Amino acid sequence: MLALYFILLVCVPLAIVMTFTAPRLAITVAVTQPAFLVIQNSNKTLTPRQVITSPPPLDHDELLLRQASKVGPNPPPKSPKKLAFMFLTTTSLPLAPIWELFFNQTSDHKLLYNVYIHVDPTQKHEPGLFGMFHNRIIPSSKPAYRHTPTLISAARRLLAHALLDDPSNYMFILLSPSCIPLHSFNFTYKSLVSSTKSFVEILKDEPGWYDRWAARGRYTMLPEVRPEDFRIGSQFWTFTRAHARMVVSDVKIWSKFNKPCVRKDTCYPEEHYFPTLLHMRDPQGCVYATLTHVDWRSVNDCHPWTYKPLEVGVGLIQKLRSARPRYGNGGGTRKDPFLFARKFSPAGISPLMNIARNVILNDSTLV
Ligand SMILES: *[C@@H]1O[C@H](CO)[C@@H](O)[C@H](O)[C@H]1NC(C)=O
Ligand SMILES: *[C@@H]1O[C@H](CO)[C@@H](O)[C@H](O)[C@H]1NC(C)=O
Ligand SMILES: *[C@@H]1O[C@H](CO)[C@@H](O)[C@H](O)[C@H]1NC(C)=O
Ligand SMILES: *[C@@H]1O[C@H](CO)[C@@H](O)[C@H](O)[C@H]1NC(C)=O
Repeated sequence: MLALYFILLVCVPLAIVMTFTAPRLAITVAVTQPAFLVIQNSNKTLTPRQVITSPPPLDHDELLLRQASKVGPNPPPKSPKKLAFMFLTTTSLPLAPIWELFFNQTSDHKLLYNVYIHVDPTQKHEPGLFGMFHNRIIPSSKPAYRHTPTLISAARRLLAHALLDDPSNYMFILLSPSCIPLHSFNFTYKSLVSSTKSFVEILKDEPGWYDRWAARGRYTMLPEVRPEDFRIGSQFWTFTRAHARMVVSDVKIWSKFNKPCVRKDTCYPEEHYFPTLLHMRDPQGCVYATLTHVDWRSVNDCHPWTYKPLEVGVGLIQKLRSARPRYGNGGGTRKDPFLFARKFSPAGISPLMNIARNVILNDSTLV
């Protein structure tokens, strides 16, 4: 009787689902060994019965992540800590010239930073569009799309490469192609290497949070991510080495966020996965704020404001430097300056370069 219930409860729904989505496969469950799922091709003469008893072979990402999760948690004590600047883009880095000036401010280049770039390998990209960074594209890049977990995968790939590439990488900064620096390299370096905490915006009870939690179906996130565990925040964060390791090692929470959404309009997994994971695993190790300024004054299809070339000037830079982040749901006495800002259009590079040396990368003009 028990076996019959098992067959009814387990086999029937499975058989219906599998037959519907993959009509060439017939599913049966071995009654004597109910834990094994037997998949049998309808062309019996060619394909032997296949019993799935072990997980499928790892794809490249899983190997990469697994390797990266084994790196040392602390940078070597004798060498200087480095910043890992990780750009997530599709085809180019139109603002590369200002980043080049920024990085050129450090004389001992390779001693203090590394650059990593994730692109869409299916799109055409010319080395010239990356300036001096074209050789920094990571090899395992894959396409990444909005409203899907692929943007999270891309960030995890960047973290894994940066962890494996240099044991001195201490802070891991995720940037978009529309981001600029707001201070000199020196200022940025000192601010970040002096911190023992990650900077990641973590917000509770934001408007619409429940629909975002339930975007993959009402029960999909349970039991690993309960509604009360769910957090929202900017996808642009700065992680310590310990947290970079934590992210690439995470299988459990990722398995929940790595599911397709049933609703697109509430599906922004990259704004949910990182704040939720960090909040669940190490809330004390985080400053609940992003250091990348963004202007939400005019939201267009959930995209923030892009500064027009005519808006780019000394006044704007001063305004962005004097702004202070939102710290989670309040509390605390920190007043960190923003280190980066978005969104700047490719056409903005010319007015940006006009004020780069004198203002943007000049600490004497600090407000
Ligand atoms: C099924 O088997 C027949 C006979 O061996 C073969 O000709 C045919 O290509 C096979 N079909 C599939 C889908 O494998
Ligand atoms: C940055 O430094 C490199 C190497 O010294 C040099 O080739 C390049 O022209 C510099 N770029 C800028 C924008 O000053
Ligand atoms: C950056 O800091 C180093 C060491 O503190 C100093 O030697 C260098 O002159 C500074 N560079 C700039 C451009 O301020
Ligand atoms: C930096 O700003 C100060 C104050 O405005 C100015 O005197 C100095 O010339 C600027 N430095 C550069 C390199 O432009």
